[in-house]
Amino acid sequence: MEPFELIINHDERVYPPDEDSYLMIKSINTKDYRNALEIGVGSGVISLNLAKKLDQVFACDINPFALRLSKKNATLNSIKNLYLFSSNLFSSIKKESFFDLIVFNPPYLPVETPPKNFLDLSYNGGPDGGEYIRMFLNDFGSFLSHNGQAYLLQSSLYPLENTTKYLTDHNFEYNVVNSLKLDFETLYVLEIRFI
Ligand SMILES: C[S@@+](CC[C@H](N)C(=O)[O-])C[C@H]1O[C@@H](n2cnc3c(N)ncnc32)[C@H](O)[C@@H]1O
Repeated sequence: MEPFELIINHDERVYPPDEDSYLMIKSINTKDYRNALEIGVGSGVISLNLAKKLDQVFACDINPFALRLSKKNATLNSIKNLYLFSSNLFSSIKKESFFDLIVFNPPYLPVETPPKNFLDLSYNGGPDGGEYIRMFLNDFGSFLSHNGQAYLLQSSLYPLENTTKYLTDHNFEYNVVNSLKLDFETLYVLEIRFI
């Protein structure tokens, strides 16, 4: 998906669109899908791009300032099909809700100390960087449509094999559809579906 030209406002308490956000946007194949769920919407940059292509996009965040900013950015771009709600990962999503696309650019940096504020929650992936990735992997399959695809970003700072082993052990197949080498890490985007 080529990124659309969007007006994106910022808030110092919210993760700003960065290389990982754009890598994710470029990696997502929206096919003939109709809806998507984004976990961790941040500024809204990924979900707003999806909303231009799909009928409905649902997006959540644990940071109330991210939800407020995403709503503002949706209004600035006249986007009316983005539905925002507060959630800790999948906690607010009703059982038996299914999405064609599920997207997560998680907090993925290894940090020993607990997050101190909302912005820290964007980066802090726990001591090994994999805390939110593991929680996401445990739950996303319950909400993915039979023919749907999930997109998960992760850094080489947390071993990719941990994720790929989990996926193959749990009846998923995956492709690494994009990567980006940065100074201290490489970012990977995994495209995941049921076998
Ligand atoms: C790396 S940022 C990505 C933001 C945006 N999707 C982007 O790509 O620019 C991670 C986002 O996940 C949110 N987040 C962190 N922990 C979360 C949780 N337990 N449940 C939902 N969202 C969470 C953060 O507040 C932040 O907005």
